[in-house]
Amino acid sequence: MQAISKALKGRDFISIHDYTAEEIKLVLETGAQLKKENKDGIAHHHLQGKTLGMIFQKSSTRTRVAFEVGMYQLGGHALFLSPRDIQLGRGESIKDTAQVLARMLDGIMIRTFEHEEVLELAKWADIPIINGLTDLLHPTQIIGDMMTIKEHKGTLKGLKCVFIGDGNNVAHSLLFGGAKVGMDIIIACPPGFEPSAEILTLARQDAQQTGAKLSVMTDPQEAVRDADIIYTDVWASMGQEDEAEEKEAQFLRYQVNQQLMSLAKKDAIVLHCLPAKRGKEITDEVMDGPQSVVFDEAENRLHAHKAIMALVM
Ligand code: CP
Ligand code: NVA
Repeated sequence: MQAISKALKGRDFISIHDYTAEEIKLVLETGAQLKKENKDGIAHHHLQGKTLGMIFQKSSTRTRVAFEVGMYQLGGHALFLSPRDIQLGRGESIKDTAQVLARMLDGIMIRTFEHEEVLELAKWADIPIINGLTDLLHPTQIIGDMMTIKEHKGTLKGLKCVFIGDGNNVAHSLLFGGAKVGMDIIIACPPGFEPSAEILTLARQDAQQTGAKLSVMTDPQEAVRDADIIYTDVWASMGQEDEAEEKEAQFLRYQVNQQLMSLAKKDAIVLHCLPAKRGKEITDEVMDGPQSVVFDEAENRLHAHKAIMALVM
């Protein structure tokens, strides 16, 4: 397959910001091609004989299954490393863990709390490190999401994508993703829950190249006007469960419901990275409704992850 170039071999996949617009385009195109060929029954064993270690310090359904199945479909093997079982959970350092795993594996996917842990792992392991979510970023999610938007809208450039809710890890990676592909991103969040100013500044630097407009506002109704994509996520992310109840009152008007949807474009699509708290950030009516593409979005994690692994490993 021509798209599996040598260009990205050996690279870490920690943030979309680390990649050029052309490289992100290559990842998206590779994902779309691998998906099509998978549907056509064409198998690719790009990673035959290779092993991916998967460290999960937080729960996961989609990310874990997509990486594990993706690795299998590419002819390789994936190893689930639970902190309950590996010595990292008993205090062995990331530095030592990285150096040991790098001698045996061909790549590591890690989902953890502090983003710095991923950077530390990458510093000490001379094999590709893939960020499977941190408190700061969720880059593999946004690759699958942009594939989904492209499938449904035919393009990414010039679209208006409105993220409603908490300025969290998904919002941050969406800002980076939009900036790379020229898609406008509006984050509508309650005061005090804005995305990081540092991320916004970096994303705006990237956006200068593509013309994407990135903005943050508090009024969800104003934000969704003329939106092509409405995106939401939980109000309390993993690790913030204690804050969930307290946050709820501030987030009530940020629910994606039919009334809010009626203010967007008629053909707007709805994304949610999942898992969803139905009845909180999104209603059943919207999530199960005709504009929702959330399960296509979940499926595309598989193809997105295959593309990332095939390109960097
Ligand atoms: N969207 C996502 O990353 O889902 P999981 O937490 O189930 O992996
Ligand atoms: N923002 C959510 C995304 C889950 C995939 C979290 O971090 O829990």
